[in-house]
Amino acid sequence: MAESTKTATLSFEGKTLDLPIRTPTAGPDVIDISKLYAQGGVFTHDPGYTSTSSCESKITFIDGDKGELLHRGYPIDQLAEKSHYLEVCYLLLYGELPTADELEDFESRVTNHTMVHEQMHNFFRGFRRDAHPMATMVGVVGAMSAFYHDSTDISDPWQREVASIRMIAKLPTIAAMAYKYSIGQPFVYPRNDIDYAANFLRMCFAVPAEDYEVDPIMARAMDRIFTLHADHEQNASTSTVRLASSSGANPFACIAAGIACLWGPAHGGANQACLEMLREIGTPDRIPEFITRAKDKDDPFRLMGFGHRVYKNFDPRAKVMKQSADEVLDLMGIHDNPTLQVAKELERIALEDEYFVDKKLYPNVDFYSGIILDAMGFPTSMFTPIFAVSRTVGWVSQWKEMISDPTMKIGRPRQLYTGHTRRDYVDVENR
Ligand code: CMC
Repeated sequence: MAESTKTATLSFEGKTLDLPIRTPTAGPDVIDISKLYAQGGVFTHDPGYTSTSSCESKITFIDGDKGELLHRGYPIDQLAEKSHYLEVCYLLLYGELPTADELEDFESRVTNHTMVHEQMHNFFRGFRRDAHPMATMVGVVGAMSAFYHDSTDISDPWQREVASIRMIAKLPTIAAMAYKYSIGQPFVYPRNDIDYAANFLRMCFAVPAEDYEVDPIMARAMDRIFTLHADHEQNASTSTVRLASSSGANPFACIAAGIACLWGPAHGGANQACLEMLREIGTPDRIPEFITRAKDKDDPFRLMGFGHRVYKNFDPRAKVMKQSADEVLDLMGIHDNPTLQVAKELERIALEDEYFVDKKLYPNVDFYSGIILDAMGFPTSMFTPIFAVSRTVGWVSQWKEMISDPTMKIGRPRQLYTGHTRRDYVDVENR
């Protein structure tokens, strides 16, 4: 990062402070307020961190106005078209595209860690059958620290590396097991002779009673869904992972915290909520009713799959995902699916509607991913677990970056307190 001598001057209550301005390689300048309280005795207030940079990072950059997403500088559309998920994982984790040998070694390390400890099968059986797979995943991923305590010492770079590979390798196995458990089918073990995405599909859809061949088109679509969700800079779940790990907590616990955060409908849970909304709308003639509700300030309803905190032009992942949705549905011969008809018409109407145009609300990645996953045969409850599998590499990369940063401190936001000031305790008989 270029050194900057620029400063911002803040004047208040007769004091004047010169605050250093840091210039990033891309994106707006950042005013460094880390000494503000020490020098000026005031805090800043920014609920939802809409104007606050929480860390320095070299991994992912989003230009919300241009609708651009870069991983280590490479645009997501190029990666989605020319690369594949495990190569993108390598890029996110280590900073550069791998050579052929490096990629082969990385793929082999991931492939050889896909099985989970056999005792974990018993752990799964403690959950209710009807548990949401995300609930199961939060528990099982958190419990990995009990099964893999030889990779929980975050001060040891080797253990950090082993924990990273273990999580990228085992999350698909765990998500598939959560699914199999929920439908009462036996767990399917991973296989080392097929690739990452195909392996996940096989663990979800194969049964021991018959042979299962993974359709290469489905595997390619799965790989693309993984790739498009791999990282997204300092979003809510990634910031949760960073905050949890700032205390020195073990990596499995931190990723479990990220999964818990991702589950919310404003974040990763939106893909499930979006498809459920499309089904609830049911037919294109009911769309205006839902558009009216989305605009009504007194109705909490929002059009799921629309809008984004950072993208105010379009979501570049949505563009690629839309193209994938068309390809997958075409290849599967799905043309007149009612959900698809509703989705296409909703997209058309919303993109022309003044409310959505003025507020720059565009379809996001979740608008299309659910349509593909549904066509592939996944129930809606598996949509967010698939997002969690994909995003694990982003969480792990950001966690590794943070742990190796010598300036890392425990995250400890301050507050704008508006409660009672000091008052004396009143005995119960006098209240
Ligand atoms: N439907 C209707 N109105 C909306 C929507 C929507 N989906 N999204 C935002 N708005 C309105 C909102 O009511 C507000 O209006 P006003 O200024 O009049 O109060 C304005 O647009 C700005 O919204 P905001 O809530 O201040 O924006 P935000 O940056 O805090 O929220 C968001 C971003 C993604 C949480 C929000 O757009 C949303 O809830 N979308 C639906 C859920 C969704 O699809 N989430 C997936 C995001 S992409 C995947 C991921 O990152 O996990």
